[in-house]
Amino acid sequence: MAIIAGLRDKRIILGVCGSIAAYKALDLASKLTQAGALVDVVMTDAAQRFVSPLSFQAVSGRPVYSDMWRAEASGGLPSHIAHVGLAEGADLLLIAPATANTIAKLAHGMADDMLSVTALAARCPLLIAPAMDGGMAEHPATQANFAILRGRGAQVIEPERGRLASGLHGRGRLPETATLLGHIRRALGQGGELTGRKLLITAGGTREALDPARYISNRSTGKQGYAIAQAAIDAGADVVFISAADLPPLVGAVRVDVDSAQAMLEAVLAHIAGCSALIMAAAVADYRPRSVAEQKIKKSDKAMNLPLERTPDILLAVKAQRVESGYPTVVVGFAAESENLLENARGKLQAKGLDLLAANDITAEDAGFAVDTNRVVLLDSDGGTQEIELASKDVIGAAIIKRVGRLLD
Ligand code: CTP
Repeated sequence: MAIIAGLRDKRIILGVCGSIAAYKALDLASKLTQAGALVDVVMTDAAQRFVSPLSFQAVSGRPVYSDMWRAEASGGLPSHIAHVGLAEGADLLLIAPATANTIAKLAHGMADDMLSVTALAARCPLLIAPAMDGGMAEHPATQANFAILRGRGAQVIEPERGRLASGLHGRGRLPETATLLGHIRRALGQGGELTGRKLLITAGGTREALDPARYISNRSTGKQGYAIAQAAIDAGADVVFISAADLPPLVGAVRVDVDSAQAMLEAVLAHIAGCSALIMAAAVADYRPRSVAEQKIKKSDKAMNLPLERTPDILLAVKAQRVESGYPTVVVGFAAESENLLENARGKLQAKGLDLLAANDITAEDAGFAVDTNRVVLLDSDGGTQEIELASKDVIGAAIIKRVGRLLD
């Protein structure tokens, strides 16, 4: 896992309680560390019955705290008293998994072990990821404790439904690491430079149906649009993510899944009011079958002609309504080119009324469709160009969001 800009050098306290899901917290501690965060793990006594402190120390590379009476802070923390040292200057306290017992303690301000005393001393945002079996999460006592904690500004990450360790089925599972990372990124992004701004971001190649079994599409996988949306969440934006691709969940965004260019156009126009920026990273099909067959088209021995018609151009539709509404303040497009990159891109910037355009050469093997890296040239409406060398799509996404932030300033 690569460094994540929004997590680099962030001090995260990871509280681990006694649940079988404690083993999943090991993966989370490892991924956070790989992403560049400084992870200080605090374990309850019960947690140590499931996983050893040494395991957390091995993946985080930092001391693990569990004994309220013995612990002295180390690892460059701001106080030698462990719970104060941990709490002071922490960027986030995440308790995952959080048991009903620790949640009850936190709700009522009790402080009788290393984790609860640290939580009481901490001033940073508090994220709680409960995991419990046997319907305990749905018990009125636990629900009331969630309500108390939410009322104080803590964020409770809903446990997921599924098979529990007991063999019962219900709501109580700790979400996967990727989901927890998404919640952490959203929490750390709050207060960032795009806080209070609404961004509309599209991704993926649209699918234009031919019959119930077939469609016409392109090679876009939506990875670049997804990375841009994640970068916007890292910057604190309210993101509406319109996706035509099969992409993982994006914590912190309103997600609208669409298939065709027409559906994407409708979704964009439905969400455009009040938008600070629209970023059209989607590879919208330019043509669709003139009619969609109700039944699967059967083959014959003759060659087949497929009449196509133009799809709506979403950016042109946005340009037309922008004249009336003034929204969005900033419009960003992409240009996927296989020749005359800059010339074609500049033409699109002007024709589509864009403020910024990211041009990429889709013939390069390490950039463009389906790969994890990209190389773009950013053109602006003042004639400026900025080349972004080969980098991960996450890095490119962050660079685009930075430019959007500057344009909005
Ligand atoms: N786009 C759009 N609506 C379409 C086609 C494209 O809004 N029907 C947007 C894309 O999301 C992208 C930009 O327009 O941000 C340029 O897309 P691209 O496919 O490079 O260009 P086209 O306008 O389709 O022109 P051509 O395919 O002829 O190069």
